Amino acid sequence: MQHWIFGYGSLIWRVDFPYHEREKAAIVGWSRRFWQGSHDHRGTPDAPGRVLTLIPEHDARCVGMAYLVDEDVFEHLDHREKNGYERVDVHIRLAGRDVPGVTYIGAEGNFAYLGPAPLADIAAQIIRSQGPSGHNIDYLLELDSALATLGVTEPHVRSLVELARG
Ligand code: SIN
Repeated sequence: MQHWIFGYGSLIWRVDFPYHEREKAAIVGWSRRFWQGSHDHRGTPDAPGRVLTLIPEHDARCVGMAYLVDEDVFEHLDHREKNGYERVDVHIRLAGRDVPGVTYIGAEGNFAYLGPAPLADIAAQIIRSQGPSGHNIDYLLELDSALATLGVTEPHVRSLVELARG
């Protein structure tokens, strides 16, 4: 069986899994925020980094990338996204049609959840953090460049880039 997966963070630019199709896509009712802690990729359990999760927001539209994958890809992705993320069913808007699919969300209250903080504090945490997958700042900059390629500008992300660059 095949499934659509919606990626809004590293799943946009770090594609380490096979897929049949890939398309720019959007989901409605969600916004991306750097509110999820990273113990295993961009930080450590003692010094977590900050990575993206989605928060529910009425009428918000989150643009990312959708992939059509075989069922067995979940084994890899569930492991990659194991730090507090869970699979959530979503309607994915592709060009000209909607498809059912899933996305990985770090819901409020999960063990790695950090929640909101002043943007300057989030930027400072991103600047100082690193983990097995690299520097946290590279996650932010890769995201910014991936969103620019998709033609998306988001104040939350742009402000963090400006703060992190000083
Ligand atoms: C995603 O990219 O869709 C999930 C969050 C992440 O791994 O950065």
